[in-house]
Amino acid sequence: MDSTPDNELADELLAVTGQLRAQLRRHAALGAWAAPGTPTARPGAGDGAPSAEVFDDTVVPLGRRTLAQIRTDLGECTRCKLHTTRRSIVFGVGAEDAPLMFVGEAPGEQEDKRGEPFVGPAGELLDKMIEAMGWSRQSVYVANTTKCRPPQNRNPQPDELAQCMPFLQAQVAAIGPRIIVALGRPAANQLLGTDAPISTLRGRFHDRHGIQVMPTFHPAYLLREPDKKRDAWTDLKLVMSELERLGIHPQR
Ligand code: URA
Repeated sequence: MDSTPDNELADELLAVTGQLRAQLRRHAALGAWAAPGTPTARPGAGDGAPSAEVFDDTVVPLGRRTLAQIRTDLGECTRCKLHTTRRSIVFGVGAEDAPLMFVGEAPGEQEDKRGEPFVGPAGELLDKMIEAMGWSRQSVYVANTTKCRPPQNRNPQPDELAQCMPFLQAQVAAIGPRIIVALGRPAANQLLGTDAPISTLRGRFHDRHGIQVMPTFHPAYLLREPDKKRDAWTDLKLVMSELERLGIHPQR
């Protein structure tokens, strides 16, 4: 083929497009589902909130922010009505590069007091579950679908989740976990974009942009229904096997 300026330009464009595609695939594999603060943010949001459309597969993942930057973006959040009743913003806790993440629903009374997720009775059980897997609270990452306690521990409402979930998504993108354990139906539903009951979701991995999501029973439910602990342990053993298959060893 002759080498005219037009052909050279076409070749160059093809090369650039190929590089861009490869980069987007790498970002998706890293779990960068969205790019807070980039043009993917909601038009007119103007409040530093990451895109609310992060579950939309058509959103192009473009970049990542650090946990510290995401915390700064969140600020003394007043984006939803939960700010009027909360004591603390419960951002999340654990390792910045944890391969394993646990996501619950919302802070309860103890978490609201202390500013840390899962520190009440359900948290004690969660710690035992994490330790039984060979990990520790410090070596995984623990967060919730909403960062403020709903009054009387009611379920978070759709408008609250819409404001808060983008921050969890940004945390997931920053951390890049290989596996997320979704604790209970609300967390599983938010992460998987479904309203199916936990009984139909648990016990198998669900792929979300290269991250394996394992729904299981919430520890608060396990405290009420101890017979279900066996099923939860089955789910966690699947997580342990998958981490081993990926060559990721437990860290304390
Ligand atoms: N339940 C949750 O879902 N999250 C917490 O942080 C505490 C209890």
